[in-house]
Amino acid sequence: MKDDDLYLMDVADVQLDATRQKLNDKEKSRLLAARMNAKHLAYCDDAFSTILMFFLLHELPADAREHTLNETLRVLQPGGRLVITEYGQYPRQHFLCRFWPTRILLLRLEPFLGDFWHRNLFAMLRRHAKTHNKTLKLVDEFHCFSNFYRVCVFEVNSPDGE
Ligand SMILES: C[S@@+](CC[C@H](N)C(=O)[O-])C[C@H]1O[C@@H](n2cnc3c(N)ncnc32)[C@H](O)[C@@H]1O
Repeated sequence: MKDDDLYLMDVADVQLDATRQKLNDKEKSRLLAARMNAKHLAYCDDAFSTILMFFLLHELPADAREHTLNETLRVLQPGGRLVITEYGQYPRQHFLCRFWPTRILLLRLEPFLGDFWHRNLFAMLRRHAKTHNKTLKLVDEFHCFSNFYRVCVFEVNSPDGE
């Protein structure tokens, strides 16, 4: 594994192909794309220094989400960073939630979002970090579209800080 290798995984070939089409030749030469279920990652422990998870967690039923977070914490090395782009906490005051037809439509289109909205992402991540003898802290957070979406940056370490 080289420092500038870019590993990409998705369960759908069509998504991997879509990414390849967006890259130039130089970027393509760094890309190692694989079709894989995030519940069972075919990477070794502590393999990555940075992991970006882009709008995946809300797509998953609760048990698959737990497995995915557990696998993510397994393959992220101490000192590494995890960046999660996702829906925010349940946006009670947001107009898309207050206006019931859009809320119902959204939950129809995203059947696992309702459950995700009511979970504590930080608590889940901390719990899975602990099972791999790692600690996790939030180091940066951005919100957009009136807190409807968020980007969270976590740093993972070993308990002794190494
Ligand atoms: C909302 S899309 C994220 C945006 C997408 N990557 C893009 O840029 O268009 C969710 C992605 O998660 C992938 N996905 C869903 N369940 C998955 C799983 N169990 N393991 C890996 N990828 C999964 C889908 O194939 C889809 O590409």
